[in-house]
Amino acid sequence: MTGIAIVTGGTRGIGAAVTKALKKEGYQVAAIYHGNDVAAERFARENAVPIFKWDVSDEAACLEGTARVEQELGPVSVLVNNAGITRDVMFHKMKWEDWRAVLSTNLDSMFAMTRPVIEGMRERRSGRVINISSINGQKGQVGQVNYSSAKAGVIGFTKALAQENAARGITVNAVCPGYIDTDMVAMVPDEVKAKIVSTIPVGRLGAPDEIASAVTWLVSPMASFCTGSVLTVNGGQYI
Ligand code: CAA
Repeated sequence: MTGIAIVTGGTRGIGAAVTKALKKEGYQVAAIYHGNDVAAERFARENAVPIFKWDVSDEAACLEGTARVEQELGPVSVLVNNAGITRDVMFHKMKWEDWRAVLSTNLDSMFAMTRPVIEGMRERRSGRVINISSINGQKGQVGQVNYSSAKAGVIGFTKALAQENAARGITVNAVCPGYIDTDMVAMVPDEVKAKIVSTIPVGRLGAPDEIASAVTWLVSPMASFCTGSVLTVNGGQYI
């Protein structure tokens, strides 16, 4: 199955690796970003990928943005909900804004991005939705009550949506990356990071390509019987 794919947070980190991998598989990929224009434009130039800028936590922006992608490129057959942020702080010091920012970008975005494209997928009786959760949505993490809650929510979202759409030819799966070598993990203080890496049985951070290959498999015909699953890719850190 090839066609049009949307990857949110598709110009950096895991999302950039997913964008490149799907392009290599023959998809026309729309990479959605929200932050750094210069970096996104460089990514678009270097990889010959169309980029679109909007805030995935803003429902109206997602409605308008996905309509624009479908108008410019065609019907979306693959949606990779990857965009995410962290606001790490101990819960007893966490502010409402830290909670809301993480919940809206990491969980509200699942609704805002998926709702506009699912109807077309249902009509065409075909589609793939891949939601990027996290090891920390499975096990919880100190300093991440907000992020762990949102990423656990992504798993519930995936399982319910998979059941609703299985008979319509749409698969919905989650991928739970462990600690991957990205800017997000680079923000973790060095001594904390060293301790975390010491708990990863394979003894290193993962590479973004190691998540992209899981996503590539999930969108491929090889995964046609796989829906509602949670694919753990974490170097054995949480089993
Ligand atoms: N269990 C229980 N308590 C712990 C703890 C643990 N594992 N680690 C630290 N604490 C306690 C400390 O002992 C300390 O307690 P006291 O105040 O009683 O002494 C308290 O927590 C605060 O510790 P710090 O002084 O280090 O607090 P801080 O405010 O400077 O930083 C933190 C806390 C924000 C949690 C920081 O340690 C941190 O950033 N940790 C990393 C969190 C993390 O793993 N983030 C993942 C980002 S990457 C990502 O999210 C991608 C993905 O999907 C994997």
